[in-house]
Amino acid sequence: MTDVVIFLGPPGCGKGTQADVISDKTGLVKLSTGDMLRSAVKSGSDLGKKLKSVMDAGELVSDEIIVAIIKERLNQSDCSKGVILDGFPRTLPQAEALGEMLSDSSDYIIKSAIKFDIADEILVGRIAGRFSCSNCGAGYHDHFKKPVKEGVCDNCGSREFTRRSDDNEATVKSRLQAFYDSTEPLYQYYHAQGLLAIIDADRPIDEVTAKILGIVK
Ligand code: AP5
Repeated sequence: MTDVVIFLGPPGCGKGTQADVISDKTGLVKLSTGDMLRSAVKSGSDLGKKLKSVMDAGELVSDEIIVAIIKERLNQSDCSKGVILDGFPRTLPQAEALGEMLSDSSDYIIKSAIKFDIADEILVGRIAGRFSCSNCGAGYHDHFKKPVKEGVCDNCGSREFTRRSDDNEATVKSRLQAFYDSTEPLYQYYHAQGLLAIIDADRPIDEVTAKILGIVK
């Protein structure tokens, strides 16, 4: 059986940061719908342009597009090591589509849906300080996760960094609203299936990692 671990939580709670670390430590493959969509935007395609306007408004991309992206990705052979879903599902129809995808395959089983529990006030500070390496995508924070050598990526040595266009105050408000409207109900959905685990995401990064490892290992 191949494990599927779902990371659930509001923007800035630390899903992407932990998905990278947990993937390194366990071999589970990180599938981030946000990263996949940002690659499509970068390609400059017509679809990419439409996605950018939705993401910059802090709204959710359609379930149809997201489910098709995940379905295709889960069929790739590297996913047989097990996967971390970072940012998917984000709506009830997405969760139901995931359930159907997995029931069609005898290989995958949802091991846990992990809720990153954190107060809204903290999220804004995390998102405002976030930046990443333009070359390899490694994530940093102005206060909580600085590169070891200022201005140089720890991972690849690049000196170019970037900030996300949706990391501004107005968009963060819309993203939080989208979270409460569409994603928060998934806590109850997975709780009812006995799959929800809750972690305190307002702890230092390595403490959060240790808690998650205790759940996924
Ligand atoms: P996505 O990229 O998934 O963004 P998000 O859910 O808003 O989450 P973030 O990436 O903002 O936060 P995170 O929880 O990963 O936090 P991070 O680890 O970076 O989605 C972007 C957009 O794409 C959406 O708005 C939507 O339009 C679209 N989309 C994506 N998936 C979709 C779907 N399924 N359906 C529909 N639309 C979809 O941490 C934040 C900062 O805090 C970092 O700087 C980090 O260094 C720091 N930090 C992390 N942990 C800690 C800690 N413990 N202590 C201190 N600092 C910390």
